[in-house]
Amino acid sequence: MENLLGIDVGTSAAKTVLFDTRGNTIASATVEYPMYQPRIGWAEQDPEDWWNAVVATIQAVIDKGNINSNQIKGIGLTGQMHGMVLLDKDLNVLRPAIIWCDQRTQSECDEMTSLIGRERLIEITANPALTGFTASKVMWVKKNQPHIFDRTHKILLPKDYIRLKLTGECATEVSDASGTQFLDVPNRKWSEEILKKLEIPMEWMPEVFESPVVSGKVSQGAAQLTGLKIDTPVVGGGGDQAAGAVGNGIVKPGLISSTIGTSGVVFAHMDSVSIDPKGRVHTFCHAIPGAWHVMGVTQGAGLSLQWMRDNFGGMERDLASFLDINPYDLMNQEAENAKPGCQGLIYLPYLMGERTPHLDPNARGVFFGLTAKHDRTHMLRSVMEGVTYSLKDCLEILKEMGVLTHEIRASGGGARSKLWRQMQADIFKVPIYTINSSEGPAFGAALLAGVGAKIYESVNEACSATIKTVDKLSPIEANIDIYSKYYEIYKGLYHDLKDRFIEVSELDV
Ligand code: XUL
Repeated sequence: MENLLGIDVGTSAAKTVLFDTRGNTIASATVEYPMYQPRIGWAEQDPEDWWNAVVATIQAVIDKGNINSNQIKGIGLTGQMHGMVLLDKDLNVLRPAIIWCDQRTQSECDEMTSLIGRERLIEITANPALTGFTASKVMWVKKNQPHIFDRTHKILLPKDYIRLKLTGECATEVSDASGTQFLDVPNRKWSEEILKKLEIPMEWMPEVFESPVVSGKVSQGAAQLTGLKIDTPVVGGGGDQAAGAVGNGIVKPGLISSTIGTSGVVFAHMDSVSIDPKGRVHTFCHAIPGAWHVMGVTQGAGLSLQWMRDNFGGMERDLASFLDINPYDLMNQEAENAKPGCQGLIYLPYLMGERTPHLDPNARGVFFGLTAKHDRTHMLRSVMEGVTYSLKDCLEILKEMGVLTHEIRASGGGARSKLWRQMQADIFKVPIYTINSSEGPAFGAALLAGVGAKIYESVNEACSATIKTVDKLSPIEANIDIYSKYYEIYKGLYHDLKDRFIEVSELDV
């Protein structure tokens, strides 16, 4: 029996999944780690936490899957994008990683735009300067922590730090590299011009591969620690969105995914580079050689519900642990008790600023329209509705760009909820499909490993061999009308509050 391993370095946890070559899950393990917020809008993690969690999950799946590690023919890495890991000359971590949802770098973004020029920046990197992306984080360290900048020798992305620990190689691949803002996205290579203008040495960049290409092999040390076999090939892999798209079969025009993980993403495959001139959605290299993708991003999607669970869900957490079930299942049941539209309670999911469509690091979360009649069922449901309105914002821009939308597939933790999938069908006004695997990025990374290990001839062949749709939810006519009205109010609220968001950010200490 041949197996493939997908390792996903997420924001809330590392997840490792073992698959057979038909795409069936053999074993899966998840270990959570913290996100540190030293100040409002800042977000950091310790790369050692990622590595320790990855080691524990690899050991667990080999054990649970009851396999010989010889059977693992390839490993694919995926994970949260954009995070900045700085390494010194001995490849030791210099400071905590500043991760994707950190919003501290607006002034560095302004500086980058004036150094390079907005149009030229979009021409090369396919995106305007964004606080979430890696380049502005490096510029922040340059300005605020020169003692660390001066000792920097390499810059890695989160999953690529795991590659270093597994193989000893400093390398990345095009889909994740696209989110650094150092990559020439149309030409799929580091941009000398950007690096020169930002005065960042080219030598700091890791080697950049296409996603299904073997980038290194498991070292003796990593093999001893994890139980993997020495020399198991590790392919480039992909950023969580590109790998998740492969794991959902979003590998040809017309197919769209709507993913609710910590962030929320509406993603479409493109055969050629196409850019939103307003920069509201990202254009990146896809994990398929010669293809690109476009995606809109909601910063606080699953993160919003997780925030509810952690801060107000004590009752659900206790009951869930007593019943040995997931607290989110209880939260779902409660949300089902409120009516669509939550009787006028509207949630704006801007807990970590917002990307699509506002590109505003100052945006804040809002519950609008609370009355004494509302209770926790409305609060929970309105969070789910607000996140879905935000995903609709993303979808609308893709449509505006002329992107084909024949079929939308729901994925991510949010797709486990039938209620949330139905909400997407009703709010997007299209049927929502799900596929036979729910492992998303880890599955996509494993399929990419299968291509690198020559089990499949191409990424498209890997997807046809393993992926099929299994469920379809059609919009409910009565809900379409209700949601359409509330969506209009939702859209207006950001504009009504935009200036207040700035004022309140300026008051923060
Ligand atoms: C994509 C993005 C998120 C993170 C965390 O641009 O920022 O998907 O990768 O999931």
